[in-house]
Amino acid sequence: MSLPAVERTLIVVKPDATAKGHVGDIISRFEKRGLKPVEIRMQTVSRARAEQFYSVHKDKPFFGDLVSFISSGPSVGVILEGTDAIAVVRLMIGSTRSWTAAPGTIRGDFATGLLDNAIHASDSKDSFDWESKTYFS
Ligand code: CMP
Repeated sequence: MSLPAVERTLIVVKPDATAKGHVGDIISRFEKRGLKPVEIRMQTVSRARAEQFYSVHKDKPFFGDLVSFISSGPSVGVILEGTDAIAVVRLMIGSTRSWTAAPGTIRGDFATGLLDNAIHASDSKDSFDWESKTYFS
């Protein structure tokens, strides 16, 4: 049986984890798992860019808080490449609701809340295409 395709995904280390100095630890976890960083950018995203990035959530009641939080300080976007990267990375980051995230997952180890949940990762090829274009443009 052949391996699943090599694909790309995007992670964003959010302002909470960046401020606490976890960027290196988080990227290192992916490298140890065999996922290669192929593009990295640190920036404080503007509100306009944040609104585009999270536009899939624009009708949710928490959209304003989400945009404010992600644009509140430096974040680090990394495009990772590897076998089945989208699914592997989603497993590694753990539950969005970080208080339920398993120990050993990135959110289980570094997140403290729902907005401040340490990391975002694309959940599909379509979201990777949109989010990487938006974060890196
Ligand atoms: P993320 O993976 O970046 O995708 C969207 C984000 O919205 C999510 O992580 C959480 O940080 C945030 N989020 C999800 N649900 C809620 C909620 N009910 N209230 C506030 N923020 C939320």
